[in-house]
Order: sequence, then C-alpha cells, then structure tokens
Amino acid sequence: MRHSQLRAGYCLSALMFLTVILSVVPGCSQRRQQAPKPTGPWTNTSLSPDERADLVIREMTLDEKIAVLHGVGMPTDDPLTEENMPSNRGVGYEVGVPRLGIPGIDMSDAAYGVRSSGANGRYSTALPANVAAAASWDTDAAYEYGKLIGAELRAQGYNMTLGGGVDITREPRNGRTFEYLGEDPILAGTLVARLIEGTQSQHVIGDIKHYAFNDQESGRNSVNITISKRAARESDLLAFEIGVEQGHPAAVMCSYNRVLGDFSCENKWLLTDVLKKDWQFPGFVVSDWGGTHSTEKASAAGLENEEPGRFFYEAKYKAAVEAGTIPQAELDEHVHRILRSMFAAGVIDYPRERGVVDPLAGLEVARKIEEGGIVLLKNKAATLPLVPIRLHTIAVIGAHSDVGMISGGGSAQVDPPGGNAIAPPGKGAPRWQAEIWFPTSPLKAIQARAPKTTVKYDSGDDPAAAAALAKSADVAIVFAYQWESEGMDLSTLTLAHNQDALIAAVAAANPHTVVVIESGSPVTMPWVDAPAAIVEAWYAGSDGANALGNVLFGSVNPSGKLPNTFPKSEADLPHPTITQPPPMSHHYDGAAVTPEQWAKGLPPFQVAYDEGLKVGYKWYDAEKKPVLFPFGYGLSYTTYHYSGLTVTPGDKVKVTFTLTNTGARAGAEIAEVYAALPASAEEPPKRLVGWSKVELKAGEKKTVEVEIDPKYLSIFDEGKDAWALVPGDYTILVGGSSDKLPLKATVNLK
Ligand code: BGC
Repeated sequence: MRHSQLRAGYCLSALMFLTVILSVVPGCSQRRQQAPKPTGPWTNTSLSPDERADLVIREMTLDEKIAVLHGVGMPTDDPLTEENMPSNRGVGYEVGVPRLGIPGIDMSDAAYGVRSSGANGRYSTALPANVAAAASWDTDAAYEYGKLIGAELRAQGYNMTLGGGVDITREPRNGRTFEYLGEDPILAGTLVARLIEGTQSQHVIGDIKHYAFNDQESGRNSVNITISKRAARESDLLAFEIGVEQGHPAAVMCSYNRVLGDFSCENKWLLTDVLKKDWQFPGFVVSDWGGTHSTEKASAAGLENEEPGRFFYEAKYKAAVEAGTIPQAELDEHVHRILRSMFAAGVIDYPRERGVVDPLAGLEVARKIEEGGIVLLKNKAATLPLVPIRLHTIAVIGAHSDVGMISGGGSAQVDPPGGNAIAPPGKGAPRWQAEIWFPTSPLKAIQARAPKTTVKYDSGDDPAAAAALAKSADVAIVFAYQWESEGMDLSTLTLAHNQDALIAAVAAANPHTVVVIESGSPVTMPWVDAPAAIVEAWYAGSDGANALGNVLFGSVNPSGKLPNTFPKSEADLPHPTITQPPPMSHHYDGAAVTPEQWAKGLPPFQVAYDEGLKVGYKWYDAEKKPVLFPFGYGLSYTTYHYSGLTVTPGDKVKVTFTLTNTGARAGAEIAEVYAALPASAEEPPKRLVGWSKVELKAGEKKTVEVEIDPKYLSIFDEGKDAWALVPGDYTILVGGSSDKLPLKATVNLK
C-alpha cells in the first residue's frame, strides 16, 4: 500500500517537472505502457487466433519479428532497461509489438503460487505443493488450483505463468518432486491439464514443463538421458501428451537436459516430431532459463522463444535470416505460434490489469486442497481422529511446529507473508535455496481445536527431552520434515537432522504417538511400526495448519492417496544412487563456467533409463519388491466396500461397479481402476487407467462408472510410430489402492 502511494506521488512530480524522466521511472512507465491499445484488423474477435496472428505478421518488420523470439533479461536481477521497464519485474519479459498494440509477455514463476510477490507488497497464496494436490486425485481441485494462480498472476500484472510442472517421479530424490504430480503419467497428465485450463480461464498464458526427462536436478544442464522411444512415450512423455491434448497450454517449456544426445531445446524429435506433429501442439516452445544453446539448430528443431535473454535469438538470429540459413517461413512460423497463442489465451483481448485479490478466499482454496491431499498412512486402534475431551495433555514436538510449516524451494518459492516464520522479524526474506517456513502454526491449530487441553511444545532438538514430554502427555504429535528445492537433489530419502531418532524416541515413550510428515518426496521410515498413526501432510501451503488440524480432529475425513510409492529403502529404487555430473558440469550458479562455455553447452554425462517405462509402482510390481506404502494408498476414518464389477467393451471401455461406505462417517473414496495388458504386450503387471473420487455419506452406496481412453490401454508401437492396442484379454482391476484391488474382470479387446 505504502509502496504504491509512494510510487503514485513520484509519478505525479515526475510528470509535472520532467516528462523525459517518465521513461526511467519504473512505476510510471509501467502504467503508461502496460496496456497498449491493439489497433488493426486483428482486433476482430470473430476471426480465429491463427487468422488474427497472420494479419499481425503481415505488418511486422524483421526486427519486430525477431523481438518476439527472445526475452530482454531477467527483470528481477538486471537493472531495469528501457525494454523490460514495462514488465512487472518477474523472471522474464518479451516486448511484444508496441507499434501494433500487441502487448509484451510478462512471465512469472507460479508453480504453487505467484513467486516473489512480497516485493510487490502483495503476498500471494501459497497453495499446497503440487504433489499434495496430486494426492487429492481431484480434477476439480486441480482446476481451482490453476484458476487461483491465474487470477493472482493477473492481479499482479502478469500474463504468463511458468507453472505446469509434470515430469513424472522417476527419481524420487529429485529436488523438484514437490513441484510435480507424482509417478503415474495418466494421473499427472490429467491433473496438469485441468490445472492449465484453470490458469488459462483467467486470460493468462498457460505453460507445461520441463519438457522432457528433467527427472533429476544433479547435472541438469549437462545430463544426457537415454531411453527407448517406446518407454519414453509410455512414461514421461505420456504425461505431457495428456497435458497438451486435454489442457491446451499455450506454451511448453523445454528443459535443460539432453535427451538422446541433443539438448531438449534443440531436440527435433521432442519439439517437432512428437510435440508439434504427433500431438498437433499449436502453441510455442519457450526455453528454460538459459536452456537455449544454438540459433539455427534450435530454430529448425522447433524452439520459438529464448529466455530470459537473447544470446542466440536476436542478432545471431537476424543474421541467419538475412544469410538464408534460417528460412523466412521458419521465422514466420515461430512468430505465428507466439502470436496465435496470445490471441488464444486472451491476453490481447483482455489486457493484463492489476487488481486486488481476496486473500481470505485464497486461504480457503489452499486449505481445502490440502484437506483433500493429506494422506493418512497408518491409524492403529483408531488413534485418529483425536477427541479433545479425552485428552488432558497433548505434546507437540519438532519441525518448528510451534510457528510454521515448511515450503518447497527454488523458482517455485512463494514468499511467506511477513517473511520466514522461523527467522527473527525483519530477517526472513526468502533466499535462493534456503528453507522457508510459512507462518501457519500447527501448535496454534491444535490448541484451537482442543481449548481445554494443555498443549505443550518441544523443539525436538534433544530426543530425550522430547521423549520425556511425550511420556507425560496423553498424545504426542511429532512433526518431521524433509525440505527440497530446485537446483539440488536429496542425497537420501532418510529424514535429515536426526529426525528418525527423534520419532523413535517419542514413539517409544508414548504409545499414542502421531507422526506428521511434511515432505515433497517419499521418506523412508525405519520406525514405521512404532507410532500409532502416521500422516503425510506434504508442503501444506498458506493455511496448512488449519487443514491438518481439521484432519487430526476429524472435522475433515482424510481422503488423499499417494501419488508416489514410498519404497522401503533406496536400495530398491531403479537407480540406488543418483549419477552425479563430473565436477566441471555443475549447475551454472555454482560453477566456474564462463558464459561462452555455458552457451555452448556443458559436456554431457550419461544417465541410462534402463528401467524404461517401469516408473514407480510399475517397477516395484515388475521386480516384486515389497514397498513401505504403495502408490494409490491412503486410509480414511470410514471404510468402503467394492462390489459388482462389470466391464463393457466399446469405443471406450466402460467400467461399472458399486461403492459402499460401510462406516459411520461421511467420506470421499478414490476408486482406482487398473488394467493388466495381454502377456504379448510385454508390459509391467498393471497400469492405472482411470479413477473416480466419490463422496459417500455414512452407509451410502453409489454406482460408479469410469470410462477408459483407448490410448490408456495401448502400447506405443515404435515400428508404426503410433499407439496400438494389442489384441487379447485385458484384466480390469478395481479397488482403493494399487496393492488392494478386490474386483477383477476380464475383457477381450481387438
Ligand atoms: C527453472 C524453471 C523456471 C525458470 C525461471 C529455471 O531455473 O528450471 O522452472 O521457470 O528458472 O525462473
């Protein structure tokens, strides 16, 4: 508030005294240039986005065309220049075509909320981490998630998101697991599509990323991924295929890594053959930040937009067009894709406009999504929900649960209101790769739900002291966290900071111990048999503590199910250790790499995905490895019964069954449908092919119908370069977890 008043006053005096100053005063220039008025025949909204784009292109000069192909530096880092001055100071800005009234594209990271908005004096809502939303398996919630992000982006003056992460959890130690939507391509793809739709409903350019196989952060700028094309299409790429076909994102962000030899952002197979030809993607490809490595090669492969700078896509690009090494038609095609996507997303017809968001409504969306995503992993003797009148004392232990809950780091980081909850006042501004805690206090949420109970806190720093407090309480709730961030991987799935010892000590001291985990990735649990209850709360977002409180005390019945398998041990992973880059190939930020070396591309090191399409549960199933908690698993305070399966073949196989709530509480059950393909398909034992989240009152019974997209029953035939159904018997399995599928029927498909 104070900020904008100051800025307004500054504008006025600048206006009164020196017009020329206007162009260097950020706030004034921003207002002046923010919404150029489109003029010309392309304002005709009855024309298609493609027709409108072509009308603009007809009027554009070569320099104007080149200008839309690149960013103008990171407005966050660089001193503002004349070019990025109209931006909102996000991470990227493309200038548009001011002469023709085509606005710039103003980009912000927004994985689980709008990044870096604290500096704008308007904190954005931190939704629960994307993986938490995935744990809700709730397509409507995914839409709301995206819609909220779109609305807050727009209100802050942005017209493009850099969210939409969907790389599947092939490597659970990946430091960005929290930004993605789990290990199953059909679950992740379906959810990201809805998220994108929600964002684009707010006239914001949607994005899906990081295309493709950015499954580990270690050496992400140099790693070369090898995998068979069939396995690629049936695993990681399937998530993108569904996201693109169903979500219609205007943009795809290509990733840093190499795939089958070429960098993703100059990889013709990925960008042209698969994305643009096979999936018919009409939008534009934007490079990850610094992920462009060439001019002619990248352009021919299908990259439209270099971000955040212009090393390859400005002077070098113009020279190539003039020399004829980049054909005019190729340039026009790239410009067309950018402009038609702007028209399609509505950023030209609905210019970005700052507004005020309703922070309370944001908190409510965040809370509800978290409530739907919390997973109850263990609940011996109905320890949960807690009943306050039976409890004289509750011990709350560990993970700064007196003041906050952890969030995921890197470019996804959302600013916590008032700064990092665990830092002294005024010292909490988020830094790159620092643990950031949101001011949502589990201790307060617990006390609010048990007002007459004595609630005591112990930091957990000394397991013996924590155990002593636990021993004196009726119930001990011990919090543990695993922080992760972009730009690094977890060295292990073991909880850091001696938290395994803390949990073991507390659980040994009190048989009524509840463990709450805040993590983005699975964690190992050597103590799993000891506590009475275990809850996975993920990175819980702005109102996480209230969501958790509602689940712990039963005003919300947990319904989330794991979107990632929790393995027993890292030794069971397809890659027991993460392949590390040779020392020179470090992440740009940390290494002695010159800009020239960087631009050229760091020397590759190899990671072979020999496990192929066997990602997550498909791997453990095929290898017959028992797990700690399986994919699709999650308990409830009620019980469900599955019966009466019928499977009807047709254009879409129809699966019908009856689901009954056999307990005494209302709840929502995620009913999962899997298929085992004919043996000749040579596939893992089963794959998820559909699901339905069904709300049921106590004792209620519903008929559930799930239709299966034929592609989800198919294999990718490399010879035909197409999806193909293998004729034979398909076993359809239905139930509440990948390891517990009581209904089974066989259908013959041709
Ligand atoms: C990340 C992207 C992000 C971009 C801009 C990159 O380091 O990989 O996900 O959108 O930075 O901040």
